[in-house]
Amino acid sequence: MPEPAPQPALLLDDYLGLIDDSCVAILPHVLRIAAELGVADVLADGPRAADEIADAVGAHPDALHRLLRALASVGVLTEEGARVFRLTPAGHRLRAGAEGSVRTSLLNVESQRAWLRGIDTFRTGRSVFDDQHGGFFAHKDADGASDQAFLQRMRERAARLYPRFATDTDWSECGTVMDLGGGDGYQLDAILRRAPRLRGVLFDRPAVVASVRAAGTFDGRACELAAGDFFERVPAGADTHLLCSVLHDWTDDQCVSILRASRAALEPGGRLMIVEMLVPEDGSWHPSKWSDIGMMVLTGGRERSAREFEALLAEAGYTLSAVRAVPDSAFSVLEAK
Ligand SMILES: C[S@@+](CC[C@H](N)C(=O)[O-])C[C@H]1O[C@@H](n2cnc3c(N)ncnc32)[C@H](O)[C@@H]1O
Repeated sequence: MPEPAPQPALLLDDYLGLIDDSCVAILPHVLRIAAELGVADVLADGPRAADEIADAVGAHPDALHRLLRALASVGVLTEEGARVFRLTPAGHRLRAGAEGSVRTSLLNVESQRAWLRGIDTFRTGRSVFDDQHGGFFAHKDADGASDQAFLQRMRERAARLYPRFATDTDWSECGTVMDLGGGDGYQLDAILRRAPRLRGVLFDRPAVVASVRAAGTFDGRACELAAGDFFERVPAGADTHLLCSVLHDWTDDQCVSILRASRAALEPGGRLMIVEMLVPEDGSWHPSKWSDIGMMVLTGGRERSAREFEALLAEAGYTLSAVRAVPDSAFSVLEAK
């Protein structure tokens, strides 16, 4: 769902104004609680009275009415008559599985906890997960529930932020597409539906591949599941490699290792496609500048400009051949040969 870029000055004015009445501090928690209760889900089919909603989600009636009233004041709901609430289009995005849903991101308490230690990153330059767990993905390897929640967030995020990569890319010159760090297979599934004559390979950490296999996402389809570590070795056999929202998790040196492993495995004449946001080299608003801080604190990675990607690719033996924007998105596709 395309979203107009917010005007930075407006954003800051609103933010500073709302700090006065503590809305800014409380809003993330109120949204998370509403998502956790499933308030938007019970309003999916139309307006309902506060007491009825409280009953449906198992909440205290007075407490829930006060939460609904606050949410209506910022445009998540509208209040229609006494204590009757309806979802706004923004409010629908709190629903599980709705178009543009942000529900799993709102429920991400793990990141909120990590952010409380965020200052450590600004003192040491290291991710908070590096110091506490030996790295973001080492933590995921050690905690299956956290890993599954992460994969769900990634699915929701990819569906929201770059759905037109799968649908608008010309796949006619591709034979076998390997999605490196392809997560739960959301992206590869969309590509194989768009271009059913392709063969797919989903490559990810063993725990992720085991869960995709158990879910049966690709059963009966021309798609292989490959478990491994892209710092060690990428399996051979594909003429197209994808790295979607993967390189931003890593430092420059780590990216060069991943790219070298890809280069060594890609079929001669093959093509690598990287899907990432590109940081503009000026002072303009761009979500990449904020995702960059997120990557620094959580994974130890970073967002990059097109020039920075070109240099990393060259160091790994690739040549950047094209850059194009993904329609209706802040993301771009960088192609390399
Ligand atoms: C940020 S997610 C991106 C998922 C997906 N490509 C997308 O566009 O939403 C990064 C992915 O890289 C995978 N990954 C992390 N370390 C890996 C490694 N050493 N080898 C293979 N995959 C890895 C993670 O399991 C995760 O699925």
